[in-house]
Amino acid sequence: MSSRNFRLGLIQLLVGHNKSENVKRALNLIKTAKTNGCQVVALPECFNSPYGTKYFSEYAENVPNGSTCQNLSKAAKENNIYLIGGSIPEIDGGKLYNTCTAWGPSGELLAQHRKVHLFDIDIPGKITFKESETLSAGSNFTFFDTPFCTVGLGICYDLRFETMARIYQKKGCQLLIYPGAFNMTTGPLHWELLLRARATDNQLFMAGVSPARVENADYVAWGHSTVVDPWGKVLAKAEFDEEIVYADIDLTALEEVRKSIPISVQSRDDIYEVKMLTK
Ligand SMILES: *[C@@H]1O[C@H](CO)[C@@H](O)[C@H](O)[C@H]1NC(C)=O
Ligand SMILES: *[C@@H]1O[C@H](CO)[C@@H](O)[C@H](O)[C@H]1NC(C)=O
Ligand SMILES: *[C@@H]1O[C@H](CO)[C@@H](O)[C@H](O)[C@H]1NC(C)=O
Ligand SMILES: *[C@@H]1O[C@H](CO)[C@@H](O)[C@H](O)[C@H]1NC(C)=O
Ligand SMILES: *[C@@H]1O[C@H](CO)[C@@H](O)[C@H](O)[C@H]1NC(C)=O
Repeated sequence: MSSRNFRLGLIQLLVGHNKSENVKRALNLIKTAKTNGCQVVALPECFNSPYGTKYFSEYAENVPNGSTCQNLSKAAKENNIYLIGGSIPEIDGGKLYNTCTAWGPSGELLAQHRKVHLFDIDIPGKITFKESETLSAGSNFTFFDTPFCTVGLGICYDLRFETMARIYQKKGCQLLIYPGAFNMTTGPLHWELLLRARATDNQLFMAGVSPARVENADYVAWGHSTVVDPWGKVLAKAEFDEEIVYADIDLTALEEVRKSIPISVQSRDDIYEVKMLTK
Protein backbone atom coordinates (compact mmCIF):
# COMPACT_ATOMS: atom_id res chain seq x y z
CA MET A 1 0.00 0.00 0.00
CA SER A 2 1.24 3.48 -0.77
CA SER A 3 1.87 5.62 2.27
CA ARG A 4 -1.24 7.70 1.54
CA ASN A 5 -3.48 4.67 1.86
CA PHE A 6 -4.79 3.74 5.25
CA ARG A 7 -7.23 1.64 7.20
CA LEU A 8 -10.27 3.32 8.69
CA GLY A 9 -12.23 1.81 11.56
CA LEU A 10 -15.74 2.92 12.54
CA ILE A 11 -16.84 1.91 16.01
CA GLN A 12 -20.57 1.19 16.17
CA LEU A 13 -20.66 1.50 19.94
CA LEU A 14 -23.42 0.25 22.20
CA VAL A 15 -24.30 3.35 24.23
CA GLY A 16 -26.14 3.10 27.54
CA HIS A 17 -26.87 5.27 30.56
CA ASN A 18 -23.57 4.73 32.39
CA LYS A 19 -21.14 7.31 31.06
CA SER A 20 -17.94 5.70 32.33
CA GLU A 21 -19.07 2.36 30.95
CA ASN A 22 -19.69 3.98 27.54
CA VAL A 23 -16.24 5.55 27.56
CA LYS A 24 -14.59 2.35 28.77
CA ARG A 25 -16.21 0.28 25.98
CA ALA A 26 -15.13 2.91 23.44
CA LEU A 27 -11.52 2.80 24.67
CA ASN A 28 -11.43 -1.01 24.47
CA LEU A 29 -12.80 -1.01 20.93
CA ILE A 30 -10.35 1.70 19.88
CA LYS A 31 -7.56 -0.61 21.03
CA THR A 32 -9.07 -3.50 19.04
CA ALA A 33 -9.30 -1.31 15.94
CA LYS A 34 -5.64 -0.41 16.33
CA THR A 35 -4.68 -4.08 16.78
CA ASN A 36 -6.50 -4.76 13.52
CA GLY A 37 -4.43 -2.21 11.65
CA CYS A 38 -6.45 1.03 11.74
CA GLN A 39 -4.62 4.33 11.50
CA VAL A 40 -7.82 6.36 11.67
CA VAL A 41 -10.64 5.43 14.05
CA ALA A 42 -14.03 7.11 14.52
CA LEU A 43 -16.71 6.88 17.21
CA PRO A 44 -20.46 7.53 16.79
CA GLU A 45 -22.65 10.53 17.58
CA CYS A 46 -23.34 11.04 21.28
CA PHE A 47 -21.15 8.16 22.38
CA ASN A 48 -20.86 8.93 26.09
CA SER A 49 -24.55 9.73 26.63
CA PRO A 50 -27.94 8.39 25.55
CA TYR A 51 -29.28 10.44 22.64
CA GLY A 52 -32.04 12.82 23.68
CA THR A 53 -32.42 16.46 24.64
CA LYS A 54 -33.24 15.53 28.26
CA TYR A 55 -29.83 13.87 28.72
CA PHE A 56 -27.51 16.49 27.24
CA SER A 57 -27.04 18.76 30.25
CA GLU A 58 -26.46 15.87 32.64
CA TYR A 59 -23.80 14.27 30.45
CA ALA A 60 -22.19 17.44 29.11
CA GLU A 61 -18.49 18.15 29.61
CA ASN A 62 -15.92 20.77 28.80
CA VAL A 63 -14.04 20.45 25.51
CA PRO A 64 -11.12 19.79 25.52
CA ASN A 65 -10.53 19.56 29.28
CA GLY A 66 -13.37 17.27 30.34
CA SER A 67 -12.76 13.70 31.38
CA THR A 68 -14.13 12.13 28.17
CA CYS A 69 -11.92 14.33 25.98
CA GLN A 70 -8.88 13.67 28.14
CA ASN A 71 -9.45 9.95 27.73
CA LEU A 72 -9.77 10.36 23.96
CA SER A 73 -6.54 12.31 23.84
CA LYS A 74 -4.78 9.59 25.80
CA ALA A 75 -6.24 6.85 23.60
CA ALA A 76 -5.08 8.60 20.41
CA LYS A 77 -1.59 8.86 21.86
CA GLU A 78 -1.35 5.37 23.35
CA ASN A 79 -2.58 3.78 20.13
CA ASN A 80 -0.70 6.19 17.86
CA ILE A 81 -3.77 6.88 15.73
CA TYR A 82 -5.97 9.69 14.43
CA LEU A 83 -9.11 9.51 16.53
CA ILE A 84 -12.43 11.16 15.66
CA GLY A 85 -14.34 11.33 18.90
CA GLY A 86 -17.86 10.89 17.52
CA SER A 87 -19.72 13.52 19.47
CA ILE A 88 -20.47 14.37 23.07
CA PRO A 89 -22.68 16.99 24.65
CA GLU A 90 -20.34 19.94 25.26
CA ILE A 91 -20.91 22.68 27.84
CA ASP A 92 -19.28 26.07 27.30
CA GLY A 93 -20.26 29.32 28.97
CA GLY A 94 -23.64 27.93 29.98
CA LYS A 95 -24.41 26.77 26.42
CA LEU A 96 -24.68 23.20 25.22
CA TYR A 97 -23.41 21.96 21.87
CA ASN A 98 -23.30 18.60 20.10
CA THR A 99 -19.55 18.44 19.50
CA CYS A 100 -17.13 16.23 17.61
CA THR A 101 -13.43 16.34 18.45
CA ALA A 102 -10.49 14.97 16.47
CA TRP A 103 -7.20 13.95 18.07
CA GLY A 104 -3.76 13.31 16.61
CA PRO A 105 -1.25 10.59 17.49
CA SER A 106 0.50 12.83 20.03
CA GLY A 107 -2.80 13.30 21.83
CA GLU A 108 -3.23 16.81 20.41
CA LEU A 109 -6.65 18.30 19.64
CA LEU A 110 -6.81 18.75 15.85
CA ALA A 111 -10.37 19.95 15.46
CA GLN A 112 -13.61 20.68 17.27
CA HIS A 113 -16.85 20.63 15.28
CA ARG A 114 -20.08 21.85 16.80
CA LYS A 115 -23.13 20.50 14.95
CA VAL A 116 -24.15 23.25 12.56
CA HIS A 117 -27.69 22.18 11.64
CA LEU A 118 -29.91 21.48 14.64
CA PHE A 119 -32.79 19.09 14.13
CA ASP A 120 -36.17 20.54 15.05
CA ILE A 121 -39.47 18.97 14.12
CA ASP A 122 -42.94 19.37 15.48
CA ILE A 123 -45.71 17.35 13.89
CA PRO A 124 -48.69 17.74 16.24
CA GLY A 125 -49.96 14.41 17.52
CA LYS A 126 -47.01 12.59 15.98
CA ILE A 127 -43.51 13.60 16.89
CA THR A 128 -41.85 16.57 18.52
CA PHE A 129 -38.10 16.74 18.74
CA LYS A 130 -36.40 20.07 19.16
CA GLU A 131 -32.66 20.02 19.56
CA SER A 132 -32.63 23.81 19.62
CA GLU A 133 -34.49 23.82 22.97
CA THR A 134 -31.32 22.58 24.62
CA LEU A 135 -28.50 22.90 22.10
CA SER A 136 -26.81 25.83 20.43
CA ALA A 137 -25.62 25.55 16.85
CA GLY A 138 -22.02 25.76 15.72
CA SER A 139 -21.18 28.05 12.81
CA ASN A 140 -17.90 26.66 11.57
CA PHE A 141 -16.75 24.34 8.84
CA THR A 142 -14.27 21.96 10.42
CA PHE A 143 -11.54 20.10 8.58
CA PHE A 144 -8.03 18.98 9.37
CA ASP A 145 -5.01 17.37 7.76
CA THR A 146 -3.63 13.92 8.37
CA PRO A 147 -0.60 12.46 6.53
CA PHE A 148 -3.12 10.45 4.47
CA CYS A 149 -5.69 13.04 3.46
CA THR A 150 -7.73 16.04 4.56
CA VAL A 151 -10.77 15.12 6.63
CA GLY A 152 -13.97 17.16 7.00
CA LEU A 153 -16.44 16.74 9.87
CA GLY A 154 -20.21 16.95 10.16
CA ILE A 155 -22.73 15.56 12.62
CA CYS A 156 -25.91 13.64 11.73
CA TYR A 157 -28.41 16.18 10.29
CA ASP A 158 -25.45 18.08 8.76
CA LEU A 159 -25.34 15.16 6.26
CA ARG A 160 -28.58 16.34 4.65
CA PHE A 161 -27.11 19.71 3.65
CA GLU A 162 -25.24 19.05 0.45
CA THR A 163 -23.71 22.53 0.29
CA MET A 164 -21.65 21.83 3.38
CA ALA A 165 -20.12 18.70 1.83
CA ARG A 166 -19.54 20.56 -1.45
CA ILE A 167 -17.60 23.23 0.41
CA TYR A 168 -15.51 20.62 2.20
CA GLN A 169 -14.66 19.17 -1.22
CA LYS A 170 -13.67 22.63 -2.48
CA LYS A 171 -11.46 23.01 0.60
CA GLY A 172 -9.59 19.86 -0.41
CA CYS A 173 -11.21 17.22 1.81
CA GLN A 174 -10.96 13.65 0.53
CA LEU A 175 -12.81 11.99 3.38
CA LEU A 176 -15.85 13.27 5.27
CA ILE A 177 -16.80 11.70 8.57
CA TYR A 178 -20.33 12.12 9.96
CA PRO A 179 -21.08 10.63 13.33
CA GLY A 180 -24.87 10.28 13.19
CA ALA A 181 -27.85 8.52 14.68
CA PHE A 182 -30.63 8.24 12.12
CA ASN A 183 -33.85 6.68 13.38
CA MET A 184 -35.82 3.61 12.27
CA THR A 185 -37.73 5.57 9.60
CA THR A 186 -35.04 7.81 8.15
CA GLY A 187 -32.29 5.20 8.58
CA PRO A 188 -33.57 2.60 6.12
CA LEU A 189 -34.72 5.26 3.63
CA HIS A 190 -32.00 7.88 3.76
CA TRP A 191 -28.80 6.96 5.63
CA GLU A 192 -27.01 5.01 2.89
CA LEU A 193 -28.67 7.11 0.17
CA LEU A 194 -27.29 10.36 1.63
CA LEU A 195 -23.82 8.90 2.25
CA ARG A 196 -23.66 7.59 -1.33
CA ALA A 197 -25.07 10.83 -2.70
CA ARG A 198 -22.53 13.01 -0.89
CA ALA A 199 -19.75 10.62 -2.03
CA THR A 200 -20.91 10.75 -5.64
CA ASP A 201 -21.61 14.52 -5.76
CA ASN A 202 -18.22 15.31 -4.40
CA GLN A 203 -16.12 12.32 -5.43
CA LEU A 204 -14.70 11.64 -2.03
CA PHE A 205 -14.87 8.99 0.68
CA MET A 206 -17.76 9.19 3.13
CA ALA A 207 -18.05 7.56 6.54
CA GLY A 208 -21.21 7.55 8.65
CA VAL A 209 -20.79 6.30 12.23
CA SER A 210 -23.89 5.33 14.19
CA PRO A 211 -24.29 3.97 17.68
CA ALA A 212 -25.50 0.36 17.89
CA ARG A 213 -29.22 -0.23 18.28
CA VAL A 214 -30.80 -0.41 21.72
CA GLU A 215 -34.37 -1.62 21.16
CA ASN A 216 -35.86 -0.20 24.36
CA ALA A 217 -34.07 3.18 24.27
CA ASP A 218 -35.95 6.51 24.02
CA TYR A 219 -34.31 6.96 20.65
CA VAL A 220 -33.71 3.82 18.60
CA ALA A 221 -30.82 4.24 16.18
CA TRP A 222 -30.66 2.57 12.79
CA GLY A 223 -27.01 1.53 13.19
CA HIS A 224 -25.54 0.52 9.80
CA SER A 225 -22.29 2.48 10.10
CA THR A 226 -21.05 2.71 6.54
CA VAL A 227 -18.02 3.63 4.43
CA VAL A 228 -18.58 4.69 0.81
CA ASP A 229 -15.90 5.24 -1.84
CA PRO A 230 -15.78 8.12 -4.38
CA TRP A 231 -17.58 5.97 -6.99
CA GLY A 232 -20.52 5.75 -4.60
CA LYS A 233 -19.77 2.11 -3.82
CA VAL A 234 -20.34 0.84 -0.28
CA LEU A 235 -16.97 -0.46 0.91
CA ALA A 236 -18.11 -1.70 4.30
CA LYS A 237 -21.28 -1.63 6.35
CA ALA A 238 -22.41 -2.82 9.77
CA GLU A 239 -25.81 -4.16 10.73
CA PHE A 240 -27.19 -2.98 14.06
CA ASP A 241 -25.17 -4.65 16.81
CA GLU A 242 -22.00 -3.30 18.35
CA GLU A 243 -19.12 -3.90 15.93
CA ILE A 244 -16.18 -2.28 14.21
CA VAL A 245 -16.47 -1.58 10.48
CA TYR A 246 -13.14 -1.70 8.65
CA ALA A 247 -12.34 -0.15 5.28
CA ASP A 248 -9.05 0.17 3.41
CA ILE A 249 -9.00 3.63 1.90
CA ASP A 250 -7.13 3.80 -1.41
CA LEU A 251 -6.74 7.44 -2.37
CA THR A 252 -5.70 6.63 -5.94
CA ALA A 253 -9.34 5.56 -6.46
CA LEU A 254 -10.37 9.12 -5.70
CA GLU A 255 -8.01 10.54 -8.32
CA GLU A 256 -9.24 8.00 -10.89
CA VAL A 257 -12.87 8.93 -10.32
CA ARG A 258 -12.14 12.64 -10.54
CA LYS A 259 -10.34 12.07 -13.87
CA SER A 260 -13.00 9.74 -15.26
CA ILE A 261 -15.93 12.00 -14.42
CA PRO A 262 -14.49 15.52 -14.15
CA ILE A 263 -17.47 17.26 -12.56
CA SER A 264 -15.44 19.58 -10.39
CA VAL A 265 -13.62 21.16 -13.32
CA GLN A 266 -16.67 21.03 -15.58
CA SER A 267 -19.07 22.67 -13.18
CA ARG A 268 -20.46 25.90 -14.67
CA ASP A 269 -19.15 28.29 -12.06
CA ASP A 270 -19.83 31.04 -14.61
CA ILE A 271 -23.59 30.58 -14.11
CA TYR A 272 -23.78 29.30 -10.51
CA GLU A 273 -21.56 29.19 -7.50
CA VAL A 274 -21.28 27.51 -4.11
CA LYS A 275 -19.34 29.51 -1.60
CA MET A 276 -18.52 29.76 2.05
CA LEU A 277 -19.66 33.02 3.66
CA THR A 278 -17.55 32.73 6.80
CA LYS A 279 -13.98 31.71 7.42
C1 LIG B 1 -11.43 8.53 31.96
O1 LIG B 1 -10.47 7.61 32.47
C2 LIG B 1 -10.27 7.68 33.86
C3 LIG B 1 -9.10 6.76 34.19
O2 LIG B 1 -9.34 5.50 33.72
C4 LIG B 1 -11.54 7.32 34.58
O3 LIG B 1 -11.37 7.42 35.96
C5 LIG B 1 -12.64 8.27 34.12
O4 LIG B 1 -13.86 7.90 34.70
C6 LIG B 1 -12.77 8.26 32.61
N1 LIG B 1 -13.72 9.28 32.20
C7 LIG B 1 -14.96 9.02 31.82
C8 LIG B 1 -15.83 10.19 31.44
O5 LIG B 1 -15.40 7.89 31.74
C1 LIG C 1 -20.65 2.34 35.56
O1 LIG C 1 -19.60 1.75 34.82
C2 LIG C 1 -18.37 1.70 35.54
C3 LIG C 1 -17.30 1.25 34.56
O2 LIG C 1 -17.66 0.07 33.90
C4 LIG C 1 -18.56 0.80 36.74
O3 LIG C 1 -17.35 0.74 37.47
C5 LIG C 1 -19.67 1.34 37.60
O4 LIG C 1 -19.92 0.45 38.68
C6 LIG C 1 -20.95 1.54 36.80
N1 LIG C 1 -21.92 2.26 37.61
C7 LIG C 1 -23.16 1.82 37.79
C8 LIG C 1 -24.04 2.70 38.61
O5 LIG C 1 -23.56 0.77 37.32
C1 LIG D 1 -8.32 23.85 29.34
O1 LIG D 1 -7.30 23.85 30.32
C2 LIG D 1 -6.21 24.71 30.02
C3 LIG D 1 -5.12 24.48 31.04
O2 LIG D 1 -5.67 24.47 32.33
C4 LIG D 1 -6.72 26.16 29.99
O3 LIG D 1 -5.67 27.04 29.65
C5 LIG D 1 -7.82 26.27 28.95
O4 LIG D 1 -8.39 27.55 28.98
C6 LIG D 1 -8.91 25.25 29.19
N1 LIG D 1 -9.85 25.25 28.06
C7 LIG D 1 -11.15 25.36 28.20
C8 LIG D 1 -11.95 25.40 26.94
O5 LIG D 1 -11.68 25.40 29.29
C1 LIG E 1 -15.75 29.02 15.32
O1 LIG E 1 -15.23 30.10 14.59
C2 LIG E 1 -15.12 31.29 15.34
C3 LIG E 1 -14.74 32.40 14.40
O2 LIG E 1 -13.70 31.99 13.54
C4 LIG E 1 -14.09 31.07 16.47
O3 LIG E 1 -13.98 32.23 17.25
C5 LIG E 1 -14.57 29.92 17.33
O4 LIG E 1 -13.60 29.60 18.30
C6 LIG E 1 -14.84 28.69 16.49
N1 LIG E 1 -15.45 27.67 17.33
C7 LIG E 1 -15.02 26.42 17.38
C8 LIG E 1 -15.73 25.51 18.31
O5 LIG E 1 -14.11 26.02 16.71
C1 LIG F 1 -37.87 9.48 12.66
O1 LIG F 1 -37.74 10.83 12.29
C2 LIG F 1 -38.63 11.21 11.24
C3 LIG F 1 -38.23 12.61 10.79
O2 LIG F 1 -38.43 13.51 11.79
C4 LIG F 1 -40.05 11.11 11.72
O3 LIG F 1 -40.93 11.49 10.69
C5 LIG F 1 -40.31 9.66 12.14
O4 LIG F 1 -41.60 9.56 12.70
C6 LIG F 1 -39.27 9.16 13.14
N1 LIG F 1 -39.41 7.74 13.28
C7 LIG F 1 -39.38 7.11 14.45
C8 LIG F 1 -39.48 5.63 14.41
O5 LIG F 1 -39.25 7.71 15.49
